[in-house]
This record gives sequence, structure tokens and C-alpha cells, in this order.
Amino acid sequence: MPLPEHRLDIVNHASVFARDKLDIGTRFFLENMPASDEPKHIIDLGCGNGLLGIAAAGTHPNATFTMVDESFMAVASAEQNFAQNHPDRTTNFQVTDCLTGIADNCADLILNNPPFHQQNTIGDFIAVQMFKDAKRTLKTGGELLVIGNRHLGYHVKLKRLFGNCTTLASNKKFVILRCIKR
Ligand SMILES: C[S@@+](CC[C@H](N)C(=O)[O-])C[C@H]1O[C@@H](n2cnc3c(N)ncnc32)[C@H](O)[C@@H]1O
Repeated sequence: MPLPEHRLDIVNHASVFARDKLDIGTRFFLENMPASDEPKHIIDLGCGNGLLGIAAAGTHPNATFTMVDESFMAVASAEQNFAQNHPDRTTNFQVTDCLTGIADNCADLILNNPPFHQQNTIGDFIAVQMFKDAKRTLKTGGELLVIGNRHLGYHVKLKRLFGNCTTLASNKKFVILRCIKR
């Protein structure tokens, strides 16, 4: 899947999220990816084919990355895509549930496009677990960026958990929320 507007070329193994076409939520996140020259540790939580982390590698030239998904096929796709688009970058790939096994207080920035369909039941159980794990894994002052459909109301749960939640960007359908670990 070539994405010339983001100067990326992406492969997807079987059953990986948005296998045939770029998800519109992911696209909106790519368009609003922050940038920094600082040597940050960035985690792509629920990385799928790795697009968010790979795009962030372009806007964070000195960052290192941890790419995490519960799906072996997703992590295999992310590994291949990272190597293809940023062969010289330090990246750690892990198949795990949310951030199980990832150290406390180790991340400066976590990117998250949570799953929102679970066996056809719409629920936010996994998303909420991801938010809790993100809080544990972030350094003090680190930030979590979450994209979701507006109707999912993630801001309520994020504000309760982090004590703060602001909107980085929004359109008719999606909102990108930003929480800081204090
Ligand atoms: C909405 S997709 C986002 C994929 C990619 N980050 C993007 O933005 O295009 C959600 C991802 O979360 C992963 N996921 C679902 N449950 C998970 C869990 N318990 N732990 C880690 N990842 C999970 C899915 O495999 C899927 O790749």
C-alpha cells in the first residue's frame, strides 16, 4: 500500500487492521502527528501495521521506538514496515496484551488508536486498559495521544485517570486527545 502523501510504503500481513486501505482515523492522526528533535522514547500502543510509529519516526528524528500489539501478524507487519521505511532506527517490537511487560516510567510519548469492536460488541474495555497501562508506562511529564471517534467519549475516562485531557485536533468524526502524566 503506497502512501505517497506521507512518503511511506506499507505492507500488511493477513488479518491486520486496515489491511487493504488506510483507516480514516489513522489518516487523521498522521496529519496531526507532533514533531520534536528531542531523543524521546515513543511507544506505538496497538501498533497494527506500524503506521503511527513509522510516521512519528519521520517527525522525531532522534527518538527510539517500542511497537506493541497483541497480534503476531500485526507486529510482523510493523517490523517489516519499520525496516523498509526507517532501516537505521532503534526499534523494539513486542507481542503483548496492552503494555504488559513494558517497564514503568519509561516512555516520553505514547501513540494510541485503540480497538473499539470486540467480537462485534462495541465496548471500551481494552481501550481503558490501554489508558491505565499508558499512565503506568509514561515518565512524569510524558504524554499520551489517543485518537477515537467522537461518540466514544474517551475524554471522560482519560480525564478521570490522568486528571487532565485536552484536544490536540478534531474534525467531524474524530478527536485526538492529549493527556499528561503529572
Ligand atoms: C484501531 S487498530 C490501530 C492500528 C494502528 N495503530 C493504526 O492506527 O492504524 C487497534 C490495534 O490494537 C490492537 N489490539 C487489540 N487489542 C489489543 C490488546 N489487548 N493489546 C495490544 N494491542 C491490541 C489490534 O490488533 C489493532 O492492531
